[in-house]
Amino acid sequence: MGRTIIVTNRLPVTIKKNRGKYIFEHSIGGVATGLASVCNRRDCLWIGWSGLSGQSLGDYDKRSIRTKLARQHNCHPVFLDKKDVRDHYYGFCNNTLWPLFHCFTQYTIYHKQWWESYRRVNKLYAEAVLAKAKPGDTIWIHDYHLFLLPQLIKDKLPGISIGFFLHIPFPPLEIYRMLPWREDILISLLSADLVGFHTYDYVQNFLDSVHRLLGHEHHLGSIDSGDNVTKADAFPMGIDYSRFTEVARSPRVIKEADKIRRKAGKRQIILSVDRLDYTKGILERLNAFDYFLNQNSQYIGKVTLILVAVPSRTRIENYELLKKQIDERISQINGRYSEVDWIPIWYLYRSLPLEKLVAFYRAADVALITPLRDGMNLIAKEFIAAKRDGQGVLILSELAGTANELREALIINPNDKRQIVAALRQALEMPADKQEEHNRIMQKRLQSYNVTKWAQDFLSNLAELKKTKNQMQTELDEKNRAELNKKYRRSRRRLILLDYDGSLVSFVDDPDKAQPDKELLKIIESLTSDRNNKIVVISGRDRHTLDKWLQETGVEMSAEHGVWVKEKDRWQKTVDLSSASWKNKIMPILEQYVDRTPGSFVEEKDYSLAWHYRKADSKLALIRRKELVESCTQVTDTLGLDILEGNKVIEIKSAEINKGRIASRWLGKRHWDFIFALGDDRTDEDMFSVMPKKAYTIKVGAEHSQARFRIKSVAEARSLLKKLSQ
Ligand code: UDP
Ligand code: G6P
Repeated sequence: MGRTIIVTNRLPVTIKKNRGKYIFEHSIGGVATGLASVCNRRDCLWIGWSGLSGQSLGDYDKRSIRTKLARQHNCHPVFLDKKDVRDHYYGFCNNTLWPLFHCFTQYTIYHKQWWESYRRVNKLYAEAVLAKAKPGDTIWIHDYHLFLLPQLIKDKLPGISIGFFLHIPFPPLEIYRMLPWREDILISLLSADLVGFHTYDYVQNFLDSVHRLLGHEHHLGSIDSGDNVTKADAFPMGIDYSRFTEVARSPRVIKEADKIRRKAGKRQIILSVDRLDYTKGILERLNAFDYFLNQNSQYIGKVTLILVAVPSRTRIENYELLKKQIDERISQINGRYSEVDWIPIWYLYRSLPLEKLVAFYRAADVALITPLRDGMNLIAKEFIAAKRDGQGVLILSELAGTANELREALIINPNDKRQIVAALRQALEMPADKQEEHNRIMQKRLQSYNVTKWAQDFLSNLAELKKTKNQMQTELDEKNRAELNKKYRRSRRRLILLDYDGSLVSFVDDPDKAQPDKELLKIIESLTSDRNNKIVVISGRDRHTLDKWLQETGVEMSAEHGVWVKEKDRWQKTVDLSSASWKNKIMPILEQYVDRTPGSFVEEKDYSLAWHYRKADSKLALIRRKELVESCTQVTDTLGLDILEGNKVIEIKSAEINKGRIASRWLGKRHWDFIFALGDDRTDEDMFSVMPKKAYTIKVGAEHSQARFRIKSVAEARSLLKKLSQ
């Protein structure tokens, strides 16, 4: 068993320099606090930034920091220089990706220099990982700072298992597509084996973007990008439940909570805790609180809002400005409502150690958590976990990922001031038994899907995917290639069956533009010129196109999945389908879909009808494709027809016709001593399925197949054939 290597931008410990000494503090934020409890085993290594900039450190300091982090925390630091912290962390991560992914397009800045730095820093992280990783290890990469890492690592260690988890929302396509480097990020993520998100909405958004921007469809969340199959799924992150309950029960915390309560007197406490970030809706919350006091004078002097704002990304202008606005708003409210013995808002602008934070959770009657957008929000979960007596009400924004799980909370729209005010009243007046009833349900859920379960769930899914991939046909590696070559050279009666589209040529939007180039024609010609070879192109295309494109090479051919064969320069029909009258029944259905799906069209072949949608809007086409298959199924069943779901095409043909049948025809012609079959889609599976065991059956692409071997691309297929032909 290999190790698990966790990679995050920030380590769970942040190092600061104070009066010449290095101080190790725990890092703030969901990723660091949530994962800290996962990486406490010896078989886990955590790689990330220490918070220090490398430029200011001497070799001795770096060495001693490395040793301390390794010994005490299982961590390995990445040192970033000042410029990279500025352009990568403050720049691309938190001025481009953070606002864009939270749908704050008005704050999103696009800067080529930041992107360059982002790429450079991702390379630095990749080097750090590659220096530590061994085959058999699992690499688990976290969050938006490291989007390019999966590809950089997979390129160097193709066999390694890579998981990626995004802790922030994945935005809808209309927002994501604004990013100038949108394809680079998606392509890299598709190098991972498993990509996890907090909610299904984010998964859906990601799949949408992959589909629309890269053209890859998915099947139940699995995306075949040719090089790899990537699964996207939702894993809502949990908290270290038992730790929070233990801390909440500890005498020191109970004492501290009592102290807070005493200070508040008989007043009910409303608690608000966040990093000071514009996504958290702090200003909107303050506005709602102001409105609440204004509309409910009976609560004046009866409630205290404790507002904890943790300093975050303070060098960014928007954050600095927000801090000023919050300060001002708090002063206004306090100025307006304070009395000699009462201040409505207690304001703490600092980060709290765990015990203090939990004491606040314990002491509060209501938690007011109203982010405008939040990937998950662990504070909400921690508040519920800390409520050992079951008392306390959570008011939660519907735009936080947590809202999907904490359904018993009072769920509000953070932009609706009136709704927040109504929820506040409801919370402050909620009977004790109802509070307890709601909290117990939520506690049970948080206890069972805690952070350990979350991590186990993710990692075991990743391991399972890896296992399935290993069981799939083997990659045609150097050794297999050499053996294939040797067998080819030694044999004298060779049968080589080649699919055309997706195997010998790549897909293009217009099927008529997929004609063979000079390189391909040369390869086929030199293969056919060898008297010991029988080369057959077995395609779904019509015979006229195949003739036009390949006639000169002298290759034998099969068109329309085997309806026609061309041997010794003569086309011949292989089936006696006296009537294709079924077309009259199917054509009107397909035409209806052409009308409803702009860009799609029907191709009529002698014995089949194909609905192509490569040029159509891919999202719409995917929906239509499902509908079309459903509408046709009933008719096709009664008429004895098959529906072939190919690459961006649905083809309907007689069930008697398939590539397996036609491949058998050539197979039975003589006793071959070398058999080779190449294909890329489901229609080729029929061909693979009739091949003898010893045949070299080769699938182009990463999807599961009956072929013995797989290769990644058309380019690889060509180079393989070229080698044989030389
Ligand atoms: N936190 C903390 N000290 C504080 C405030 C917050 O340690 O003073 C921790 C808190 O326990 C929680 C995390 O910071 O685990 C915040 O995570 P969340 O998902 O709520 O928001 P994020 O900051 O990641 O956006
Ligand atoms: C969010 C991000 C984390 C990040 C945290 C704190 O939770 O998803 O990746 O670590 O905020 O932000 P910071 O910029 O201080 O690391």
